[in-house]
Amino acid sequence: MTTQRRTQPQPTTTTSLDPLSLPRGEYHAASATDSRAPCPIMNSLANHGLISRDGRNITKSSLESALAEIGLARTARAALCSISFKVHADEGDVNAPKGSSRLGFREVGQVNGDGVEVLNLDQVGRAKGMEHDVSLSRRDREVGDHMRLDRGLYERLMGVATKEGRGGAFKLWSLAFHRRTLYADSKATNPHLIFGVPQHAAGCLEVAAMQAVFGKGVFKGVPREYYEAVLGEERLPYREGWKPRRFMLLLEIAVFAIFVAVLAWPFSLF
Ligand code: HEM
Repeated sequence: MTTQRRTQPQPTTTTSLDPLSLPRGEYHAASATDSRAPCPIMNSLANHGLISRDGRNITKSSLESALAEIGLARTARAALCSISFKVHADEGDVNAPKGSSRLGFREVGQVNGDGVEVLNLDQVGRAKGMEHDVSLSRRDREVGDHMRLDRGLYERLMGVATKEGRGGAFKLWSLAFHRRTLYADSKATNPHLIFGVPQHAAGCLEVAAMQAVFGKGVFKGVPREYYEAVLGEERLPYREGWKPRRFMLLLEIAVFAIFVAVLAWPFSLF
């Protein structure tokens, strides 16, 4: 597995009031009126202007090239974009349009002025789609805000970073055990919890993708300050020294995800 990194200009933060005038790549935190997702990475892409800064009318090609810019495996970004841009269908809807999917985000006919299919980031949080309970940094849908960062969950997550290295690091195994604890908490406190194997797989894939994109190798994990930037500020950790990888295999994400899924497995088999 290749772990070459590409050198990139390091975007700086600005306090300019008009984010639309900022160069592509420069970080600007979202405003209250911007559309945002429950995914810290998609929000980071918008905050850096790699996709539309207001989080609206995002095209598939812009999302795919933004994911390429952060070094995500080609097959992973193609698969994610293909699913995301399907028209959303509710579970069990017999009248759902052909080609629609429960995991898709778009409305029927949701296109921009040029007739190109688009989506808005808030649609990524659709119920019974990709969004799920037992998140690292968001509350379960029925008991809190499933879209935005919860400071309490965030602080607990930060406590999971191992202490070695400069500021500490997030290892796959620590995150797996943390996911198990979060599941136990949700099971005990959320009577409306929806969490089965598909949701478990999604949660573990998110941890795996973080390791693949931001990790410094399996044993070094992801530096704590990278997690702080991405989850805490929805910012890509360029300032902290991160450089996107040049090449990544989907297999790598899959292997990490299986490893996490096994260690974090919360269900009884019998
Ligand atoms: C088209 C691309 C993507 C889509 C549609 C997407 C979608 C989502 C969704 C729906 C969630 C919410 C899950 C929940 O309820 O907790 C989520 C969370 C998350 N995503 Fe993404 N994602 C994308 C790309 C990525 C990438 C490339 C990474 C990592 C490098 C990533 C990392 C995460 C993480 C770590 C979370 C968990 C946040 C939490 O548990 O609090 N995502 N994503």
